[in-house]
Amino acid sequence: MLILKQQTADLLSSAAAALWPQAPMSAGDLFALLEFPPDPAMGDLALPCFKLARTLRTAPPAIAAALCEACRGDDRYLSVEAVGGYLNFRVNFAAVGRRVCADIALRGEDYGSPHTGEGRTVVLDYSSPNVAKPFHVGHLGTTVIGHSLRLLHEFAGYKCVGINHLGDWGTQFGKLICAYRRWGSKEAVEAREIDELVALYVRFHAEAEADPSLEDEARAEFKKLETGDPDNLALWRWFIDISLREYQKTYRQLGITFDSYNGESFYTDKMPRQIERMREQNLLRIDDGASVVDLSAWNMPPCLILKRDGSTLYPTRDIAAAVYRAETYDFDKCIYVTSAGQSRLFAQWFKVVELMGYPWYDRLVHVPYGTVSINGEKLSTRSGNVILLKDIFRAAIDKVREISIQKNESAEGREEIAEAVGVGAIVFYYLSNNRMRDINLVIEDALSFDGNTGPYAQYTYARTCSILAKVADADASASFDAVAVTAEEADLVRCLALFPERVQAALDEYEPSHVTRYILDLCAAFNRFYHECSILGCEDATTRRSRIALTRCTHTVLGRALTLICLKKTEKI
Ligand code: ARG
Repeated sequence: MLILKQQTADLLSSAAAALWPQAPMSAGDLFALLEFPPDPAMGDLALPCFKLARTLRTAPPAIAAALCEACRGDDRYLSVEAVGGYLNFRVNFAAVGRRVCADIALRGEDYGSPHTGEGRTVVLDYSSPNVAKPFHVGHLGTTVIGHSLRLLHEFAGYKCVGINHLGDWGTQFGKLICAYRRWGSKEAVEAREIDELVALYVRFHAEAEADPSLEDEARAEFKKLETGDPDNLALWRWFIDISLREYQKTYRQLGITFDSYNGESFYTDKMPRQIERMREQNLLRIDDGASVVDLSAWNMPPCLILKRDGSTLYPTRDIAAAVYRAETYDFDKCIYVTSAGQSRLFAQWFKVVELMGYPWYDRLVHVPYGTVSINGEKLSTRSGNVILLKDIFRAAIDKVREISIQKNESAEGREEIAEAVGVGAIVFYYLSNNRMRDINLVIEDALSFDGNTGPYAQYTYARTCSILAKVADADASASFDAVAVTAEEADLVRCLALFPERVQAALDEYEPSHVTRYILDLCAAFNRFYHECSILGCEDATTRRSRIALTRCTHTVLGRALTLICLKKTEKI
């Protein structure tokens, strides 16, 4: 509809130029004034003329009436009416449908791309789990929001660099090494891999409650690691390899790949230069033995750069990483997707980067998101009360397979479909909410075929596939030529026309849920159309061809939209 709004603004702008040459109005100004009335009785598009009254020194109803006269006869509108100070447009959806369907047929899966990213690079830092800690549902957010943002930016033409900033350095490795030496064995780790590492990590916390000296032992092990002790380094590398293998399984299910796995350890030798720069710029203060940057002028607590013992911290590594990325990728934006719990931390070190005089400081973007609980339960790694992402995915996949067996569907391709639909259901459910909302994941609900779910969306996509498969060759490239449309067709046209602006909103607000909700709107519009309008059985040749074209356009746009939120296009379900 954005296109329509644009076209209407253009039309009004030239009409106004003829009417009031002394006070020209740009299409941009008019575009900003145009609105979609919430009540369809008021038309599909409206221009409130009140703000124009002052510049034109004319009463709003008179402005509306004058513009109304000038807009008559345009085939994109069924009617243009001046009502009070409003100019109301009733859109001719047959005419819009002809344009939109032609556009989709021409551009295919490129339809909806704003092409704003051409020649620009975006770095996206997401997923980034802490190695050897479990990959739990808390990581769902950063992983799927992050990847969806990547796909959206790629769609807009940006060159994207996806970075998995692994938490592969820090005291947790001291703990793990300590636990492994005390209670672990090579055999057990080889047999149970990540599960054993997590068990060791959980055990460490349980035992350290009773015996706090374990914490010192862990610190000593980490110190040894930092100073290059070969045994500890070998264990560290081994733990990382095991963890990475595990993550890859989840990433594969989601269809995610990264361009770089440079984690926190990668920046060890890149921090001194930045710390030196802070010193030279007189940014560092000593606070209780630690080196910090004072941020009180910005109402923030100080940003910790070095601990008392001289060791670096999470923000220190992030500052070095940001500089490295700016130098390596020359990014237009560097986006970080983490839980909202880290918002302050990011605000702090972004400010430090600004104070350090880096000109790209305002290209750093933090994208936070809310918490996830499962069936109402909060999770915590330390207590061992974790629900792993892979277990959630497995439960969802099992359920879909079970339904398929119950329905006696063919076993061919069943595994693949069960994975696409099971994993997709969880992702869809998660991404249907605004990212800042705290989410309670109820797996049963996510898997429902009746609700506003992933399976329902994928099912609708499969429905478009099966209709199109029955279309005879003669109609393969049928176009939309209808001169009149039913209410359901008009709604579907409107929905198809809305895709570009929903994509734009998702990009502007770093909010994939705009796409998810768009998918639900499109599915609802298509299913109503499918139930009310006969497609292949339609007698009238023009209507039939137009309906085939609408089905094909839905197929294209729905498929595109699904893949933008990390779902697979399922030809059959
Ligand atoms: N590893 C961190 C965590 O699990 C997230 C890292 C996010 N990225 C970054 N550059 N700080 O909380």
